[in-house]
This record gives sequence, structure tokens and C-alpha cells, in this order.
Amino acid sequence: MRFVANFKMNHTRASTQEYIQELNAHLEGVDSGNVLLFPPATALCEASGKIDIGAQNAYFEINGAFTGEIGLEQLGEFGIKKILIGHSERREILGESQEFIAKKFEFFKANGFEIIYCIGEPLSVREQGQEALFEYLFSEFDGIDTSYDNFTIAYEPIWAIGTGVSATIEDIELVHNRLKAQFNKELLYGGSVKVDNIADIAKIDSVDGVLVGSASLKAGGFAELIKKGLIA
Ligand code: 13P
Repeated sequence: MRFVANFKMNHTRASTQEYIQELNAHLEGVDSGNVLLFPPATALCEASGKIDIGAQNAYFEINGAFTGEIGLEQLGEFGIKKILIGHSERREILGESQEFIAKKFEFFKANGFEIIYCIGEPLSVREQGQEALFEYLFSEFDGIDTSYDNFTIAYEPIWAIGTGVSATIEDIELVHNRLKAQFNKELLYGGSVKVDNIADIAKIDSVDGVLVGSASLKAGGFAELIKKGLIA
């Protein structure tokens, strides 16, 4: 079971360092390789103790004239080899198209990164039924080489992100079972995962881990979530 924290645009460099120290202190007895943190770009750092570090975003070049972006060179300084691609906030708020996302995927694949690739439908699609749901979700794999080995899929229904209301166990099973059958990849669930629901979510066979936003922001709370998930 993998526990992945996405800080989004929260925390500073200093508070991220404090967080890493505090979380590590809570992780005695937890196997290495199961906890991954995506801090904001200004707080990127090397992996430390039981906590691996990934990038929430980067541009598909080594370096160059791409104002405001970071690339392979900046990630390399911290030994970072994991990246989140396709998050709904980048698709919807930052306007990343499927074509642009596929270019990012190709570049980081060529550089051997583990890609945590996010998909998820808005409520309007979910309400149209299963056929529309899967048509939408599968369209988010356009241009993506799903045979790439170092590739993890995160299913994050948009209507469950940051709302406090997670998808139901049945909702998660429906999508995860289908994704498992189709791609046979590690699958994370994300969308209002918290201490109160982690035990039920962790028990689902086709859930291999969770991608957590709000409930990951405090080290003590995330440590509790990890412990509950591991004993579920
Ligand atoms: P929340 O856990 O705040 O719903 O966010 C989920 C998410 O988007 C993680 O990438």
C-alpha cells in the first residue's frame, strides 16, 4: 500500500523540511518505498529517510527558454525521478491539453521517471452513466504509452477532490476494477481520502495506494492516515 501526499500550492521550503522530519519520526516500522511526497517546486529536496520526493509538475525539456517552468536539470539537482502528470487541476485551471500532457509523458518516460498519471471525470460526466464515464476516462489516455513499465495510474474523480466527500467504495471499485483489467498497473485512488475513510478504501483489492491532498498537509494527521491504512 502506497501513501502519496500532494501538497499542491501549500507549504514553504521551511515548513516542508519540518514536515519531513516530523513525518519520518512517525514512520518507524513502515517499509521504505511506500511514502511519496509532492511538495511545491520551491520546496523540492532530496529524498529523506522513508520519504521519497517527486515533482508536481515540470516542463518536457532539460532546460531552456521556458519562463516560469522547471525542467530535467532542476529536478536532477535533487535526484528526483518521479513526476505527477495529468492532474485535473492542471488540466482544468492551467489549461493543459491531452496533447501537451502526452508530450510531457513521452519526455519523462524517455528519462526513466516513475510517472504518476492522473485521470478523473467531472460530475457532469459521472451523471451520464457508465458508458460516458469510461469513454471520458479512456480518452485521458490518448497519446499515452500505457505499456510503459514505470507508470502508476491515479484515479481522482474531480467531484471528490477537496470536497470532503470521497467516492463510495462501489464507485471506486467500479473504476479501479476496470482499469486493473485494462492496464494491470499500480492504481492509486485520490479524492477526499482522510483518516475517517482510509481503512475502508485500503481494503479494496484494486486499490494499491492513495493520493492525498488536504489530509496530507499536517505530518501528524498524515502519519495517522498511513498507520490506519496499513492495518486495514
Ligand atoms: P484532496 O485529498 O484534498 O481531495 O485532494 C486530492 C488530490 O487532488 C490529490 O492529488
